[in-house]
Amino acid sequence: MPRLFSYKDFESGSNKVRQYADKHAPVIICDREAARDCPFKVKVRIGTSVKHPNAPDHHYEYIQLWSLETLMGEVRLQRSSYGDDPLFIETEFSIIPKVSLRLKALAYCNRHGLWESEEVFVKVNDSPNK
Ligand SMILES: [Fe+2]
Repeated sequence: MPRLFSYKDFESGSNKVRQYADKHAPVIICDREAARDCPFKVKVRIGTSVKHPNAPDHHYEYIQLWSLETLMGEVRLQRSSYGDDPLFIETEFSIIPKVSLRLKALAYCNRHGLWESEEVFVKVNDSPNK
């Protein structure tokens, strides 16, 4: 099992340590309720206030979206497609939920390892059209 890092592991550190954690930690952005069997969009963004490098020897390689033990989606990032400057990487997943979700995003930096987001609970309700 690889070691997993989260923003919480570093939040009591110095400003520099918190900035390090901020630029690595994925954040899930989505509604907290969804309609069953209807497309539902989940955005994952790496970093909220500090951009992560995107250099050949230091960059993000993939972002995964999980609901408990189920892998909902994965995006492999082609570094050169995003230029050489630091950036906030974002991706969007579109899923069709059947049951309520307990989402967590994982993202892998080739220099600083695997980072996890906070868990986000999404209540899935019966669609009004069914
Ligand atoms: Fe990094």
